[in-house]
Parts: sequence; C-alpha cells; structure tokens
Amino acid sequence: MGNLVFVAKETAADETRVAASVETVKKMKALGLDVVVETGAGLLSRIPDGEYETVGARLGSVADAAVADVVLKVRRPTAAEISGYKSGAIVIAIMDPYGNHAALADMARAGLITFAMELMPRITRAQSMDVLSSQANLAGYQAVIEAAEAYDRAMPMMMTAAGTVPAAKVFVMGAGVAGLQAIATARRLGAVVSATDVRPAAKEQVASLGAKFIAVEDEEFKAAETAGGYAKEMSKDYQAKQAALVAEHISKQDIVIATALIPGRPAPRLVSRDMLKSMRPGAVAVDLAVERGGNIEGAQAGGIAEVEGVKVIGFANMPGRVPASASLLYAKNLVTFLETMVNKETKTLGLNLDDELIKATMLTHDGVVVHPSFIDPDQANAKKGVL
Ligand code: NAI
Repeated sequence: MGNLVFVAKETAADETRVAASVETVKKMKALGLDVVVETGAGLLSRIPDGEYETVGARLGSVADAAVADVVLKVRRPTAAEISGYKSGAIVIAIMDPYGNHAALADMARAGLITFAMELMPRITRAQSMDVLSSQANLAGYQAVIEAAEAYDRAMPMMMTAAGTVPAAKVFVMGAGVAGLQAIATARRLGAVVSATDVRPAAKEQVASLGAKFIAVEDEEFKAAETAGGYAKEMSKDYQAKQAALVAEHISKQDIVIATALIPGRPAPRLVSRDMLKSMRPGAVAVDLAVERGGNIEGAQAGGIAEVEGVKVIGFANMPGRVPASASLLYAKNLVTFLETMVNKETKTLGLNLDDELIKATMLTHDGVVVHPSFIDPDQANAKKGVL
C-alpha cells in the first residue's frame, strides 16, 4: 500500500470548494498514493462522489483522516478536525496564518507538518502552485458578475430606436491578479473601465487591457514595489494625495471594484463614506478585501450593505461563488505541490526540508511553529535556550 491521502469535506459554512478534482485524484494515484475522499466532499463543486471513485479513490468518512499521511483541505483545519489527524501527518491548505498564532500553535502541538499554500513564492517553478493567483483571478471575474447583477442598469452602451443606454463606468482599485481580471471582464461586458494601483508596473498592464490608468505618479509611486512584486504600505502623505484624486474620479463612476491588498498587513482603506455619497443613485461597489479589513468604509463581510445609497457588496470567499471552476484550479495547485514531496522511484512521501518551496510554505514541524514570519517570541526564546 502507498501513502494515504485524505481529501476532506470542508466544514466552514461558506466553503463550497474542494481540495481534489477527478484529474488530481488520477494524478495522485499515478504518483503511487492511495486516496480517500470524504463522502460528499465535491458535491458543491459539482463533482459527484462516483466520479472520484471511477478514477480510483475510495470514499470514506472523517474517521479515515486518522490514518492519513496527507490531508488535503481548502481551509485551515479547525481544532476538532485537527484532533482527528495523526501526529506527523502533512496538512496542506490555505492556512490564513496572519494573526492566527493560536491556531498555528494548535497544529504544531498536534504534531502536524502544515503548509500554507498562500505563502508559495512567486517564482517560475511555483507558478502552477500559486493559489493566490488561481483564486484571485476567479474572484476578480466574479466581482464584476456580482456587480453587474446588483446594478440596475445595463453595462454596455446600447444604441436603440428607443434611445441610447450609456455604458457603465467601472473603476477598479488595485490592478493585481484579481483587478486585472476584473478589468478584462468589465471590458467584455462593454463598460468604460479605469483602474488605479500603487505599483508602477500596473500602469502598462492596465493600459494593455484597454482601461485608463489613474494614479498619483510621484517619486514614492515609482519605488512602490517590493522585490516580490507586491505593493508596499504607502506613506500618509501619499495616501492623502491618492484619496483626493480618487475622490474626484469616483464621483463620476457607476461601479467600483476594490481589490487592494498588502501581504501581511490590513487592507488599505481607499473608499470613504463621503466618496460613496458622491456617487450616483444605483451605484454599486464591491470590496474584495473585506476579509482583510476592507478597502471600502461600511462594507460588511458576508453580505451586501447599503452605504450612503450605494450597494456595497462584501461577499466573503468570492472564489467560492464559482466553486466548480475554483476547485479545479485549486486542486491542480495542490497536487503540483504535493508531487514535489513524492519520491518518484520509491513512490513514497519524502520531504526535502531544504527545498525553497517547502521552506517558504511550511508553518509547523516537529511540534513547533517553524515559519520565521509566525514563530511566536516565547517559543523563539525557548528554542534559543536549547540550541
Ligand atoms: P495583492 O492581492 O497582494 O494586491 C492586489 C493589488 O492591490 C496589487 O496590485 C497591489 O499593488 C494593489 N494595492 C495595494 N495597495 C494599494 C493602494 N493603496 N492603492 C491601490 N492599489 C493598491 O496582489 P496580487 O494580485 O497577488 O499581485 C501582486 C503582483 O504579483 C502583481 O504584479 C502580479 O502580476 C504579480 N504576480 C506574479 C506572479 C509570478 O511571478 N509568478 C504570480 C502572480 C502575481
């Protein structure tokens, strides 16, 4: 028998995705792994149990997690789930580690070897394992679909015998993976699109998608990108200048899609109540950063809030609203990473702790939190004493 992989049914109420697809089960079997899928795990992603079975998975229950060498999940396991895993098991998921020290400590104490997919380095080798990209891409698409649904007017310009419907004006804030897909989707629907970002590299990308770039392009802007390609937190002075420019622009927009994030920091607040108030009746705003503190004042995580006459959409887990697509991509990201942990000759698991992908994503190992960004100071001091 090969090493056993357990594909869990997600327990979070709003989680519709699943960590394995038919294609990835096939792949795991080819790698020499045995796969147990918890009954019903794929249902909300439109993968019936029988489809996993036809490619060689066994259907099981949570009890099977107790003997699994690898647990694949979408979300970080809860304390109850952790108690059902064996010590030494590898657990791979979107771990949401920032600010969740207690949960990481629990996983460490349980002896789990845990990996946070969202910490995958953005290097060529790991591109096919990049869950931030695969999920943000769909979130950006879905944000526009939700906005179009909530908008009481048509998106494209329509010239008809009965008169002309003007094109909707859509403003995308944050032109990373989600923002660029939002721009492309809004353009396909016929909107007139503009976008802003603090990274200079975004300017050309926005223009190449046919949208207008709006930003304060001062010296700080020209240096506002980390080596990893992410945004930096901007100075108070820059934020004030940006706010003034944005306020003027937003008053003329019908739809705002906000996607701005800074890794490991709260999301920047970009849209104030006053800005919302300046928009036309029937305006819509979508806050894709709502789970990280929000870009838009008054946005409510998990629903639609009416703020100063604007419908502010704050759905949590936007990729989970296109679960069948999101799961296929997520599952592929996972299996590609898992494959790096399998010895091709012996067809067994073997972790190479020196691998840069392992180093970048491993949160807990040997009973302790090992990731440098999340080691709690007490543990670090205790460890220093031992070393
Ligand atoms: P993200 O999800 O961390 O943030 C979204 C966007 O918000 C970013 O473009 C960021 O610059 C922007 N932002 C932050 N603060 C802002 C503010 N105050 N005002 C306006 N915008 C603000 O970023 P994401 O989508 O993960 O992408 C970051 C970069 O990484 C992009 O350049 C992307 O193309 C690049 N990337 C590289 C990959 C690779 O090399 N393998 C894979 C995926 C993305």
